[in-house]
Parts: sequence; C-alpha cells; structure tokens
Amino acid sequence: MTRIAVLVSGGGTNLQALIGARDRGELGGGELAAVISSKADAYALERAKNAGIPGYVVARKDYDSNRAMTQALVSRLKELNIDLVVLAGFMHILTEEMVHAYPNAILNVHPALIPSFCGAGYYGLHVHEKALAYGVKVTGATVHFVNEEPDGGPIVLQKAVDILPGDTPEVLQRRVMEQAEWHILPQAVALFCQGRLSVEGRIVTINKGE
Ligand code: GAR
Repeated sequence: MTRIAVLVSGGGTNLQALIGARDRGELGGGELAAVISSKADAYALERAKNAGIPGYVVARKDYDSNRAMTQALVSRLKELNIDLVVLAGFMHILTEEMVHAYPNAILNVHPALIPSFCGAGYYGLHVHEKALAYGVKVTGATVHFVNEEPDGGPIVLQKAVDILPGDTPEVLQRRVMEQAEWHILPQAVALFCQGRLSVEGRIVTINKGE
C-alpha cells in the first residue's frame, strides 16, 4: 500500500477532498498516513485529526531557510516510511533535497493552467488576482510532479475553469477549487497509487487500469 503524506499550510480544503476520496474508496488503495503542516495553527491539522490521520508540525518559522526546513521534512517523511508526498496548499518552495529523496513521487496542485500564472510569487489568492488582472477568460488547475523548478515539473492532470464577468479573486478561487482542484488532485493521487503513471522527460503517460 502506498503511504501518503499530505503537506499543508492553511485551510486544507484539498486535504478534505483527499479524505473524501479515501472514505469513498477512491484513492487507488493509497493510505493517508500523515499530514504535515508548516504552520502550527493551520485548520488543515483539525481536518486531519477529525479524519483520524496523524498530524505533525514542521514550522517554517523554526528554520533559518527553506533548505533547513526541507531537510527536516525529508527526515520526518523517511521516519514515517512515506512513499508519496502530496503538496496540498503548501506555501513554501522546497529545495532540491526533497526532489532527490522523492524523485517523481511528489505531487503538487496549482490553481492555474501551467505554464500560465505559475512560478515564484504565484501562490494562493495571488494566482487568481494575476489571472483577473491579465484578463484571461479561462483559467483552471494543474496537478504536476515536483522537480527543482517551482511549478515546473511534468504535468499529470489539468482542468479548465471559465472566468465570469464580475469575478473577484475570492469567487474565482472558490470556483477553481470546486470545479477543478478537488477533482483532479484525488484523481492524480489514485492514478499514482495504482501504479498507472509513467514519466519520460516532461511527458506523463496515464496507463490503462486493470
Ligand atoms: C489552493 O488553491 C492550492 O491550489 C493553492 O493554495 C490553495 C490552498 O487551499 N496552492 C498554491 O498556490 C501552491 N502554489 P487549501 O489549503 O484549502 O487546500
């Protein structure tokens, strides 16, 4: 069974979507083995507790750099025998130590259609502010493998979402979550756990199930 750790920093609605999929038996047999938060007061930890998943804090503020935090995270993940790391609203850039420890075994959900509105500085509500300011008519969400480049790893799944007249960043964020993120993140995790993803360079192939 694939042991999954979900890394979070905030509200944890994507974590909740993973918990829902697990409860419906739709996580490809993966086990939600740990939730690790970069903030001690993240509501995501409450969601983990309610779902019976062990919660841990590796607080960014306790480390001098992203590298030191990443090293602490890798040690914790290895102690917990984690096979798949899922970044679900994790708001810090992990350094290369994480990618070396988990090659093609880290999934991230990003609230835009990569390669638009992504990279350093594009996180959370800012992504939607920038999409609205640019005037695009369609946005969406992407689940991708994590490599050394922020938001630059091979793409697993994407889903488009319309931008509507009068949208605020908050309204658009909610629509992107409801119509895209909460669906494609559990789907991608299930595909990984079923061993159906193969990666060659930038290209991810989804293989047929049994
Ligand atoms: C989600 O929209 C997620 O895609 C985004 O932050 C939000 C977290 O919400 N992540 C990033 O921007 C990472 N670059 P949640 O805590 O309710 O899942």
